Formats: sequence, C-alpha cells, structure tokens
Amino acid sequence: MENIMNSPAYKAAREKAQELLEKLTLTEKIGQLSQFGNSIYSSEEKKYEDHFREGKVGSFLTLRGAERTNKIQSNLLSIQRTPIPAIFADDVIHGYRTTFPTPIAQSCSWDPELTTRCDAAAAKEAYAGGLKWTFGPMVDIARDPRWGRIMEGFGEDTYLCSQFAAAAVKGFQGEGDAPGKDHLLACMKHYAAYGACVGGRDYNTADVSLETLHEVYLPPFKAGIDAGAATVMSAFNDVNGVPATANHYLLSDVLRSQFGFKGFVVSDAGAVGELIAHGFAADPKDAVLKAFGAGVDMLMAGDMFNDNIPSLLEEGKIAMEDIDRSVLSILTLKYLLGLFDEPYVDPDGENVFFCAEHLALAREAGAQCAVLLENNGILPLKNVKNIALTGPLTHPCGQAHLLGGWCGIADPSRTVTIEDGLRAAIPDANIDVIPGATFVHMSKEEIDAIAVRAAGSDVIIAVVGEENGMAGEAGSKADLNLCGSQEELVLALCATGKPVICLVSAGRPLVLSKFKDKVAALLNIWQPGTEAGNSVADLLTGRVDPSGHLTTSFPYTVGQVPIYYNHPSTGRPATGRWRFESKYMDCPIAPLYPFGYGMSYTSFEYSDISLSSDVMPADGELKVSLTVTNTGNYDGAAVVQLYVRDLVASRVRPVKELKGFKKLFLAKGASSRVELSLPAASLAFVNSDLEWVVEPGQFMLWVSEDSTDERYGFDFEVI
Ligand code: BGC
Repeated sequence: MENIMNSPAYKAAREKAQELLEKLTLTEKIGQLSQFGNSIYSSEEKKYEDHFREGKVGSFLTLRGAERTNKIQSNLLSIQRTPIPAIFADDVIHGYRTTFPTPIAQSCSWDPELTTRCDAAAAKEAYAGGLKWTFGPMVDIARDPRWGRIMEGFGEDTYLCSQFAAAAVKGFQGEGDAPGKDHLLACMKHYAAYGACVGGRDYNTADVSLETLHEVYLPPFKAGIDAGAATVMSAFNDVNGVPATANHYLLSDVLRSQFGFKGFVVSDAGAVGELIAHGFAADPKDAVLKAFGAGVDMLMAGDMFNDNIPSLLEEGKIAMEDIDRSVLSILTLKYLLGLFDEPYVDPDGENVFFCAEHLALAREAGAQCAVLLENNGILPLKNVKNIALTGPLTHPCGQAHLLGGWCGIADPSRTVTIEDGLRAAIPDANIDVIPGATFVHMSKEEIDAIAVRAAGSDVIIAVVGEENGMAGEAGSKADLNLCGSQEELVLALCATGKPVICLVSAGRPLVLSKFKDKVAALLNIWQPGTEAGNSVADLLTGRVDPSGHLTTSFPYTVGQVPIYYNHPSTGRPATGRWRFESKYMDCPIAPLYPFGYGMSYTSFEYSDISLSSDVMPADGELKVSLTVTNTGNYDGAAVVQLYVRDLVASRVRPVKELKGFKKLFLAKGASSRVELSLPAASLAFVNSDLEWVVEPGQFMLWVSEDSTDERYGFDFEVI
C-alpha cells in the first residue's frame, strides 16, 4: 500500500536530508536527536540560547500555540550555525482544543472511519497551534482495567485495535504522499507490551511469552506501520527482563528488520534515564549506550544524548553510521513535513478551534461511542415532564471530567454539560439539578437528602463515574467499584421507586454489578468530550439510536481481572457440571458485560447466512454473506461481528477470535446484504518457532451480535 513512508515525496526528502547531513558537525547531528520541553527555558539562565546556537535542539514537546511556536522557531533559526527547523510535538490523543471521546470510547463505535475523522480534525487544530507531530495513537492492547491507560487505547482485541491503529494514522497523517498542511506525524506507542504491566500497575514489568507478544501485542504496531506511521515511542516497562527502551530485539530486529519500519523511534519521557532505576544501566552514559545501541533515535527529553554520545563515539562504542542513520530519518521527516520551506504556521489558522464542523463531529462521535448496557424500556425518554438530575458529574467540575484525561489544552468551560444538553433537547421538561453528590465519601444523611428530593420527579438521571485524573498515566486502581459513596447513592435513588437512568462516565470499565439490575437503564457514556451533553441528550431522547459495543470486557468483580473474551482454551472449561473446572467459587466465570456487547433501541435480525465454501486453501479466502434487517421501531446501526475458533492446532488457541466486523446503518424495517471476507491469512497464529502459520484443519465460525452470541455457527476446513 502506498503511504507517506514509501511515497516519491519521501524519497525526495531523503535525498535532501542526505545532502544536509553531510554538512553537519557532530554536535549538530546529536542535537537533532534531542528533544526539549519547557525546562529548557526555566533551568539555567539563557541555557536555551547556547543550545540553539550550537544546534543542540532538534525538537520540542508540549510547547504549543501558533504565536509561541513561531517565536521559538524564529529564535532558533536566527541563531543556529546551520538553520534546521525544530519539530514541535505534543500528546494529541483525542483532540486538541475541541475534545472528542477518548480512544477507548472511540473504539466502541466499531467505526474506524470515525477515528480517522476525529484524528484528522484534531490534527487540523493542533497544526494550527504550531504542532507537527503527535504522540499518538496509543495502540497498547489492554486486558486489565486496573491500568488507567486503558482509556488511551482501543481495547482488548488485537484485530480491532489494529484496524483503529491504521485508521488513526490515516487521520493524523492524512492520505496524501506527505503529511503537509493540517496534518501531523503519528507516533505508535508505547512499544511494546506496556498494557501487559503486571497487576495493572503503571510502569510495571511485562512478562509475556514471545508467542503472545507477537500474536497479541505487536500486530497493532505493524498495522500502524503498514499504514505509514512515521514514528514509534519506546515504552517505560521492561519486557521479559529487558527494558523496552533498551531492547535491541524489539527496536531493531522486530521493528526495523521484520516490520520494515523506516521512521524514527523516540524514547518515552525519561525512559532512557530510568534504565538506571531498572538496574539495567549503571549511569547516564551507560543508559545512552544501551538505549541508542538498541535503536532509540531521539531522546525525550534533555541533554543525555548531547552529553554522552560524543564520548561513546570516541571510545568506539557507538558508530558514526548509526548516528547518521538516526539523524537522516529525522531530517527526512522534517523535509517531508515541508518544515524547511515553511517552518512557521499562520496565526490566523487558530480560528479552526471549536469550529462548527468539529463540534458537530464531537457530538456525533460522543453518541456513537456510548454503550447502552441496560434498558427496561424507559429509553428513549417519551413525554417526560419532571427530571431529577444528580451525581458528581453534574456539577460544574463535571465539565472537565467529561473530557477525560490526556485532553491537552482543551477548554473545560466549553464542555456542554449533561444539564445543558438535556435542557436544549427537552425544553419543556422541568429539570431539577440536585447538588451535593461527590466522588468521595457522602454521609447517609447527605445521600438521603438527595434521594428524597429526587423522588419528587418522574425520572432520575444519575451521572456517576470517575474524575478525569483517575485514569490515564499513573491512574492505576485496585478497586473498580464506583469511588466514594456513589454506589450507595445510586442504590438510594433506586430505592425511591422512581426509575433511575444511570450514566457512567469513566476512563475504564468499572464494576457495575451491584446496581445493574436495579436501575431502569444503564448507559456507559465514557468521557465523550466537548459536546458531551448534546451527545448524551441525543441518545436519551432517541434522536440517535445507541450503537456502541464494548471493546473491553466489563468485569463482574475486580477479582476476575484480567478477563478478556479471547482467552486460550482450558482443559477444564466451566460447564457448571462439577467442581473441578476452571471457574471461581464465589463469582461467575463470565464478565458482567462481554466484549462486543451493546444494546440498541431497535432490534436486528440476521438471515440467509451463507459461506462461499466450507473448505478453503491455506492461501484462500472465505466470504460470509448475510442479510441484516432492522426489525424494531427505530432507525439504528447494527454491528455484525465475525468470530473464529481454530479447533485443533499445534498451540492452544483462543476460544474465539474476532476476525471481521461491519457496522451498518439501517432505517427501521430496512434490510441489507452484508459480505464479510475471511482471508485464510487472518487465521495465522505464531507457532513455537515464532513463525506465523496457517495450519490446516477444522475451524468454527460465528456471525454474532457480541462475543457470546453463538446462534449462527458454521464449520469450515482449511486445506
Ligand atoms: C507518556 C507518553 C507521553 C509522554 C509525553 C509520558 O509520560 O508515557 O505517553 O507521550 O509522556 O507527554
């Protein structure tokens, strides 16, 4: 596939970079490998001026805004011996000023195209703010909701995450042969297995077999690279004892040699220095040797490369050709971005922030990503007159929390609150906003007071969940119940006898078992972003039919974690027939809500399902066709899911694996024929020699509405 990393423009950029490289001093070369944040301005007096003059700065992070970045760029270019524009980078994760739903939420849309659109809009705003490079997408597979960074990725499934990885790269980088105006370089992070941190504790060790590493954790990186991702970030964690940031096998053998990655690798913030704390490097110089030697090209952030590479080169521990290779890949991308021709951005470009088009997209996305978990028929709301609205996310601070973490320089004051959204959507209803609910402990009296007042309405809407800082980096949790007294609050509201619609806004799957059968409806809205209130009101009123489906299993209790649908088959599956089975004594084996699950106001029927054949050669393809009919009373979108099981193989295979999906909109009563393709190559797995193989034999295939749905199963054989 043609992408920016194999385009003619890339080739031309590389030639120019080669010419420039030959003119650079060693100091200037190493400077290109060094990134700096704000501290370059706040530390020693005028340190930045000397650094600029000597060419010791190649990139900046988290310095933003057209005016500011233009000023820094012009300052840099005016005093460097060899003028080389800096590349400004930042975490543009789910928006820049306009905030879109978090990536975990976006994945629940099962619509990668939506992510392409959101990331393209985010890139446009970020570009206007002076950025040329985002530290995203995060494509770490996360099977453990205790890990707060689960919010930054696309869930627990490798196939789905790979589709979204490629979609995000397309959105950020654009689809031309160079990123150009309004686009950013993408950065696939965190390479690798960061999501496998033991116990869900951030920065913790990842102990994964090489088979699992290659089969589960690496394919989304490969998918992003195949889509043209220009950069990769090395992770903080160690992988089987070798820190990812000093991991030659991962960074050189796999990334460059196997995956054909041609861009550059930036270390995660401080990860090179942390090799010392890992006990993997003796001192900063040793850390630089190990990281650079393994394949890290750019240091985030500071002077460790500037200070140590010269002596390592002199001692023969680092080769000049390796330095040149790294510098060349960075300069090539600077040329490809057009930075040398136009190092500045137009300050008037910032009027794209919060533009009508981006707000409309945020509203649409917020509604597409929410997952309806329970509904006794109360939703969509009809002729409701008196609504009580309560919960900690209804307070003004909710405006920030509804954006989620990693929202850069979002503006919480622009967030449409749930109250505002409801008032606009149902202007005739009386909405009693009841204050007093918090994320921390509430006394019984405080809870009762809220419940008594809420009982005076016809319907209660409770907005509960997490603060935005409770997930994201270092947002690990050991308890996944609603924090503080929120659970007691929901139960007290249910005890009033009035129907309770519970909206859960969080960065991770939370444990909802204690009240899921007591509420009238349960809608997991994630952290929807700037248009939160409008997106939610669209769903509650039925203007939009809920069509989100989970991309992570929602545990029944934290004790089940890690729990994911595609676990390897056990010799003692839980059938409930006897004691000696793989199960728990004290809780169900199944999650509360499985991967792929999501309700709708309408219903869909699958019929006339056919396979193009029941045998397929190991290099062939099966076509699965079906008719999907919207049999309910609302227009809506179905998410058809295709799962496969390899019945007998040389390694134990997952009980089920997603291999295809299609989201399609159908007006009520409408039908459509859908075709999903299943290439035999997608059945490949990593054998014990670490080779991808398609083994002949019997397979099962299901066309399903979620990962537990086995109504439509078929056998086929690979020959
Ligand atoms: C995070 C990265 C992020 C970087 C720069 C680190 O702490 O792990 O994901 O891109 O900071 O902000």
